[in-house]
Amino acid sequence: MTKNPPMNPQLYRDDLETVEIDEPETARALSETMLSIAQKTYRDGGHAIRSVHAKSHGLLEGEFRVLDGLPPTLAQGLFAKTGTYKAFARLSTTPGDILHDSVSTPRGLALKIVDVEGERLNAEDDSASQDFLMVNGKQFNASSAKAFLLNLKGLAATTDRAEGLKEVASKVLRGVESVIEAFGSKSASIMALGGHPETNILGESFFAQLPLRYGDYVAKFALVPQSEELKALTGQELDLNHNPDGLREAVSDYFRSKTAVWEFQVQLCSDVEEMSVEDAASTWDEEKSPFITVATLTVAPQPSWNREREREINDGMSFRPWNGLAAHRPLGSIMRMRKLAYAQGAAFRSQRNPTPVEEPTEKLVSA
Ligand code: HEM
Repeated sequence: MTKNPPMNPQLYRDDLETVEIDEPETARALSETMLSIAQKTYRDGGHAIRSVHAKSHGLLEGEFRVLDGLPPTLAQGLFAKTGTYKAFARLSTTPGDILHDSVSTPRGLALKIVDVEGERLNAEDDSASQDFLMVNGKQFNASSAKAFLLNLKGLAATTDRAEGLKEVASKVLRGVESVIEAFGSKSASIMALGGHPETNILGESFFAQLPLRYGDYVAKFALVPQSEELKALTGQELDLNHNPDGLREAVSDYFRSKTAVWEFQVQLCSDVEEMSVEDAASTWDEEKSPFITVATLTVAPQPSWNREREREINDGMSFRPWNGLAAHRPLGSIMRMRKLAYAQGAAFRSQRNPTPVEEPTEKLVSA
């Protein structure tokens, strides 16, 4: 497969998006449904955790390096000039509960690139970072915000009915809500019941699934293993049945001595009809427009999970699709829905936990 940018990258235009009149209500309903999950786990556990992607397996500090010499179509936004930034990455699994890892569910990677320059998406925010959120599947499960809300509400009702059942069943069902967030509804039921292959999370490729502005253009983003030691972990089986935190331990084992390098890639929209911005469930043809590397993420050996990092990164940070540059504005109805849900989720955690949620500055988290 060619790794050159497509010949005809499409310029961003405002009319690529179609905003429906009742979107604010849908966004509120989605956010409230998400929040109800966090409220439930807070009542149960006394600590506010994320309503989805609650369990972290790696809390990493690294370097994000924008490649030198990118052609003009790729030298856009944050990627317009070469540079190395400090970055944080949070590896997670999708459920809103902290489950035993034997309930093997899909995985997420949230990336925060610190101290980037450029016009902000929200002029009033005091953040200088750029967040990108990804999961280990290419396709979002619902084509529109309303379809997604319907899924989520249906599953929320299932959760309520399951409350009398034994703990594990109820937890797994609650987890279904968050898996639906990331994966197709067919695979979701299998994945949510612990049907995700028991493999090392460090071998995964991660995808933002939904489009963002890429400066003058439009793109989908991905993060894939580059270093051989990471690639060797792709699909590698991991016995998660006897260790509740098997994923976290596998990540810690790796970073005790090894460096990890991922490629950050973009797939430019080269056909506005076939590569829809509003149809969230569509994937874009990689023959017509391949994912191309524009940056790398390097994480050197380090303690990848400890109490200090749990406080500073897990509790003290939020990763939000709308925290970033105007040049990378999230696009499409599902993306628009996410703005409120993440803001409310972070505020909920910030208000209840001893560590407030803040944007990091130059300060490095202690090892
Ligand atoms: C309408 C659709 C979606 C909604 C309403 C939603 C909502 C949320 C919420 C409320 C959180 C917890 C935030 C917090 O408490 O700080 C979260 C976390 C997360 N979501 Fe989504 N999400 C959606 C779609 C997606 C998609 C498409 C992806 C990736 C392809 C994604 C990836 C993630 C990841 C990786 C996290 C964990 C972030 C972290 O580590 O802090 N979500 N989501």
